[in-house]
This record gives sequence, structure tokens and C-alpha cells, in this order.
Amino acid sequence: MSETTAKKRIFSGVQPSGKLTLGNYLGAIRNFDLLQDAYECIYCVVDLHAITVRQDPATLRRATLEVLAQYMACGLDPEKSTLFIQSHVPAHAELAWVLNCFTMFGEASRMTQFKDKSAKHADNVNVGLFDYPVLMAADILLYQTDYVPVGVDQSQHIEIARNIAQRFNNTHPGTFVIPEGMYPQAGAGAKICSLADPTKKMSKSDENPNGFILLLDKPEDIMRKFKRAVTDSDSRIILSEDKPGVSNLIQIYALATGKSVAEIEAEFAGKGYGEFKPAVGEAVVEMLRPIREKTEDLLKNKDYLEQVYTEGARRANYMAQKTLDKVYRKVGFVKR
Ligand code: TRP
Repeated sequence: MSETTAKKRIFSGVQPSGKLTLGNYLGAIRNFDLLQDAYECIYCVVDLHAITVRQDPATLRRATLEVLAQYMACGLDPEKSTLFIQSHVPAHAELAWVLNCFTMFGEASRMTQFKDKSAKHADNVNVGLFDYPVLMAADILLYQTDYVPVGVDQSQHIEIARNIAQRFNNTHPGTFVIPEGMYPQAGAGAKICSLADPTKKMSKSDENPNGFILLLDKPEDIMRKFKRAVTDSDSRIILSEDKPGVSNLIQIYALATGKSVAEIEAEFAGKGYGEFKPAVGEAVVEMLRPIREKTEDLLKNKDYLEQVYTEGARRANYMAQKTLDKVYRKVGFVKR
């Protein structure tokens, strides 16, 4: 990746949770290989962010590699994109400190994710949790990022990153590119719902494990979950707002097979859920099979994974250090 590339730059941070869902895949990850041709892409597994809530060390280590392997299996190509682990690039923590001094207590206090997480982890409302958005701003600003692909739930974090960048630029002109959020388009598979409660978004934190499909689920588990999927009282297979269960399944089937909604409605006209649900299950099994197999291969090949994240960190370090040097000079630190 050269610094002089004309392509716009994308940075995205990924939580090191080993559990990626079908919703994550259809909503975002599936489009990564398109993004990496049009943009210069940097993907970072955010282990520093992860420890703002308690983690089991062995699980965190494994999940960090699992998420990397799954993203690669979904098409992220380490030859085209920079893939690295946040804690391998010290500039993230270093810039976060400087940005802390350009972030107001009041604005950080207004972050809804902080309020939600404080309520959820009431026994561990640590300063890191409060500082989470500032570290995220550092992630983004270090790479002079143009666009940040995130879910709408992250829009407040993008706004605070922009405000911090602007504030720093006001006193130190020309330091940071002001990034923009890149949000999923409505209707483009952006919102896959729970199979157990189709009025809710599919989420790995659903207490009912039948509600979500994981990318690494075994075929028999996928089939079982689809056969049990909650549908609606009448048995017609049509896309309709008052049939959220069937509509969700139609959407998934459409994305998995490339068929249009009209084609699917015609295919299943006069047929019942007994035929439709297993058909959706099979389509998803076939879509996910190569991803699961590739992920398993990668996780067996730890040396290759290590090579990928080491090279990624080397490239990321180079880019990040340039920005950090500039910031240190502007705030008045003596050159090392
Ligand atoms: N907060 C993001 C999330 O929960 C993860 C993240 C951390 C991130 N740093 C980032 C996303 C930088 C985009 C850019 O999904």
C-alpha cells in the first residue's frame, strides 16, 4: 500500500468476538471484497477496546484470531487490504492520550453506548469504558481516514471523532482528515432479523440461540434453526410488512441464492412453510460452507495467520507513526 495512492481510504474496527452472525455477513462483511477494490482498506481487530469489559484472556486471544480468520475467509485479502491487531500498533494508545486532552468531559458523558454499557456492567464502570470513543477516534484519525463503514449504532461515535478532529485542527490546522461514516443502505441486506423474534435484529447476544446463525455453525444446526424459525399465522410465502417472520426468511433466501423476491414468491406459490424453511436452510448452509471450511483451514495454519497480522501491523505502524509524529510536533513535544 503506497501513501500516494489516489484511492480514498477506509478504516474499520472489528470487535474481537469469535462469533460473527449471518446478519453481520449479509449486512456488511459480504461486501468487503467490493470495497477493497474501490478503496484502500484498513481493518483492525480492536483488542484494546475489548478489555473495557471483562474478558477471559485465553478466550480473547482465540477470538482475536478467529475474527481475523473469518474475515479473511469472507474475502478480505491481505494482499489488497491491511489487516492487523490494534495492540500491535502502539500509536493507537499514544494518540488516544493526546486526544483525551482535546475531548470534553461533558461530550464524552453524553455517549449513549457508555450509558448503556455502564448500566449493563454496573459493577465495572471503568475509565476505559468512558474513554472508549476517544480511542476509537484515535484509531480512525491515525490513518487519515476518509470513510468509516459502521452500523448506525456507531454514528454518535463517528460524530465525536469528527468533533475531536475538528477541535484539534482548529488549534493545529491541517493535522487530520475529517472522516465520514459510511452506513449500510436500507434494503441491501442491511437488517437481518432474529429467527426467534423477527421484530428484533439478529444478534449473537440474543438469549435464545435459535434466533441467530453463526458463520461457523454446523450444517445440522443451521437446518434445525431454520426449521424452527418463527413464521406468521397464515401460510403464504410473500413479502409483507405484517409477515415479518416470512419476510425475513425471504430476504435471507434472496441474498443466499441471488434470486429476486418475485422469483421466490413464484417458486413457493401454493407451497407451505414445510417446504420453504428447509430450502432457506439449505441455501444458507451452501453459502456458508466455503467460509466455514476456509476459516477452519486458516485457524489450523497459525504461522500463516501470524505472517498476515505481522505484515499488517508493519504497514499500519508506518502510516500511524507519520500521523503521531505530526501530532507530537504540533503539540510541542521535543523530537525523539
Ligand atoms: N466501536 C466499534 C463497534 O463496536 C468498533 C470500533 C473500534 C471501530 N474502533 C473503530 C469501528 C474504528 C470503526 C472505526 O463496532
